Formats: sequence, structure tokens, C-alpha cells
Amino acid sequence: MRININPVGRLNGELSVPGDKSISHRSIMFGSIAKGKSVVTNFLTGDDCMTTISAFKQMGILVDFIAPTKVIVHGRGLNGLLTPKSTIDAGNSGTTARLLIGLLSAQRFKSSITGDASLLRRPMKRVITPLILMNAVIKGYDDNGYLPLHIQESKLSGIEYKLPVASAQVKSALILATLYADSASILTEPAVSRNHTEMMLKSFGALIEVEGNKITIFPAEELFAQDCDVPGDISSAAFFITAGLLIPNSILTIKNVGLNPTRTGILEAYKLMGADISIENESTSGGEVRGDITVKSSMLKAISIGGSIIPRLIDEIPIIALAATQAIGTTIIRDAQELKVKESNRIDAVASMLKKFGARIEATDDGMIIHGHTPLNGASIDSMMDHRIAMTAAIGGLIAKGETTVTGWEWVKISFPGFYETIKMLEC
Ligand code: S3P
Repeated sequence: MRININPVGRLNGELSVPGDKSISHRSIMFGSIAKGKSVVTNFLTGDDCMTTISAFKQMGILVDFIAPTKVIVHGRGLNGLLTPKSTIDAGNSGTTARLLIGLLSAQRFKSSITGDASLLRRPMKRVITPLILMNAVIKGYDDNGYLPLHIQESKLSGIEYKLPVASAQVKSALILATLYADSASILTEPAVSRNHTEMMLKSFGALIEVEGNKITIFPAEELFAQDCDVPGDISSAAFFITAGLLIPNSILTIKNVGLNPTRTGILEAYKLMGADISIENESTSGGEVRGDITVKSSMLKAISIGGSIIPRLIDEIPIIALAATQAIGTTIIRDAQELKVKESNRIDAVASMLKKFGARIEATDDGMIIHGHTPLNGASIDSMMDHRIAMTAAIGGLIAKGETTVTGWEWVKISFPGFYETIKMLEC
């Protein structure tokens, strides 16, 4: 599917973005292995989270939609999952695949898991290696560390493990596996990554202690159903925050956005760049802070982004790179080699996309260097099967001169159904 985008005069108004993808996945997963009914509101119905629902349905879990974004998960308890009758397909979703590998490793049944062409290229060794240390039995073709994988039943033991990369997916896989183990695990991350698993599982009754970068997880006997009101996804809001900043005379308010500090790196980076961003109506539900974000168009200046902030804005780097093309000075993004193993190689995909718009950008080994305040020209962009590349291209099209075409637009449904309609609603 292909869309055409033309520059707009300004964007104005109030909007909401769909529910947080990370939290939506986890609400299904944790609800499934808890005892009782968990009601999830503002659930993200994007393709990735629907994939998670399909996977759990294959393991005997009943999931009912009682409204377009309201779901009841009928949990079967910690040991209630049933043997899947066929291979679980994690589609495009790294979160589904990696968290499930952890969970399946600890079950009393055999299972197999695969994914789409993009997911088959994404590294799974990062979860397989520590799970094998816990006694998991996981086999792949040539044991090369990629999907598809076959997982056998096994009794796991806890481990003490230093994660080589700050990855919430790896951390969450090991946390899930430890719930079923015969001893505790102690995990240390090189930098704090998103902590939704720790916070949510605690509310489901798991015993998890967090001290800075160190997490101790104890085996569980049972988890108990919890209702979950999913905040709007800051990673989706990021596209409109950026559009509001870059398009002159715009004022946008994005309602009810998740503001968990492990996710708000983009707000900190933009404020350092001189962005006019304010937050109102903050509240907390289920441990997750949320609030309304108002952005006003701003003249941005370049900064350097690297170190421990990277995991707190990793998914937003494509759109931050677009913002950097309009900032005064040279923006340097480093320590972001993880971008190479996202839904696409996002260092190369961002550099090649922005070059097509006429930006001056160099890909580096661990990030990019962007020379700012460059006027952009409409371009023909392919999404590279990557939702965040497609949406970045669309926002690029709003600020570029002339028409922009984005092919492979269907990938946007992974995380943001209704993205195009939201742009149309705000155009003035
Ligand atoms: C996610 C963790 C991050 C992020 C991904 C979602 C999660 O991946 O990029 O979009 O829900 O746990 P990594 O764990 O690979 O850093």
C-alpha cells in the first residue's frame, strides 16, 4: 500500500494516540498466566499485539473484546497454558517472540516459534544464551540463534546474569522464566531499560526487587488477575510531538500519554534542543505515570545523544533524526548500535531515507551524524517493512517541499492504526 503526503500549513488541535505497545503485549501475557479475569482498557489493536493474542489463544487462553479497545483476558493461572497444536507465529513482533521464548522455556510442554521475514533476521541468541544457562532446552536450525526455534519442557534454575545489552525484551524473557524456576535470578543491566514487566508483574503478585540496574526475581506459586488501563504510547506520540515542533505555528496537545521515566528520553532530548513542551494533568494508574503533552513549534538546536539515555529513547531515534535535520548545528547520536537489529537496520534505513529527502546525514557504526537546518524536498520512500520508518517518512513529507510518497504503508498498522487519519484531522 502507498500514500502520498503533501506539506501542511500548520497542525493544530487535540489528539490521542493508541495504547502503549509494550504494556498491551504484557497485559495479555501476564493476564494469561494469572488466575482470574483481567480487564484491559485502551488496548493497542495494532498487528503486533493481535499477534500476541493469537499466540495465547493457541495455548488455550480465551481473550474477549467487549469494546473496540477493551479486552477481557481469561487467565488460566501460572501453570494453566495448554500445549499449542501448531507452531506459534510471532509475526513481526520482537516483543512477542523474545518474551514468549522465556515463557515457553519454562512450560511442561514442547513448542515451536517462528516469525515473518523481518523477525527471522533478528537475533534471538541474546535470550537463548541466558535461558540455556537456566537449563532451558532450545534448538534452532544449525543453532545459529535465529527463529524458528523448538523449545522443550525443562525445569529451570535461577541465574545471576549481566545483560550485555540494555534490553527490556531480554530482561522480561528471563523474568518470566524465573517465575517458574526453582531459585531466584539476579539480573544486572548496563543501563536501565523500560521497566513495565517489573512494575506490572509486581501488581500481579510476583516478588521482584529492583535496586538501580539490579533486579532480583523470585519464583512464584501463582499470579492473580489485574485490570490494566493502558496509557497512550509515547513512541507513537513521538511522531506528533515532532510534527508539532517542526511545522511553524502549530500547537498540539496529545492526551493521556504514558510518561514512565524509562520511556521519556525523547522529551528530555527535545527540551535540551530547545523544544517548547509542557505536561499537564499528570496521574498514575497501575504504577504508570501518564499526562497530556502540549507542544508548540520551536526552533531546535543540535545536541549530542548517547550513553544511558539511549535505551530510554531507542524507538524514537528515527523521528529524532528527522527533527535533527531541522535543528541548528550538528546532532550526533552514538551508543545506538541496537538500532541495527530492530524491525529494519534503522541506522541504514534512517540515513538512506533522510538522504532521499535531501538531508545531510552520515551513518556511523553506532548511530548517525546529522547536519542541521537543511530544507527537505519531497521524496519517494519505502518503509523497509518497518512501521517507524514509514511514519517518520510521513512526518518528513509534511515538512518537505513537494509531494512525498511512502510505499509499504501497511506496516504502520503494527503500532499505530489510524495514523494517517490523525494527520488529516489536525491539518489546517
Ligand atoms: C520493547 C523493548 C525494546 C523496544 C521494543 C519494545 C519491549 O526492545 O525497542 O520496541 O516491549 O520490551 P529491546 O528489548 O530489544 O531493546
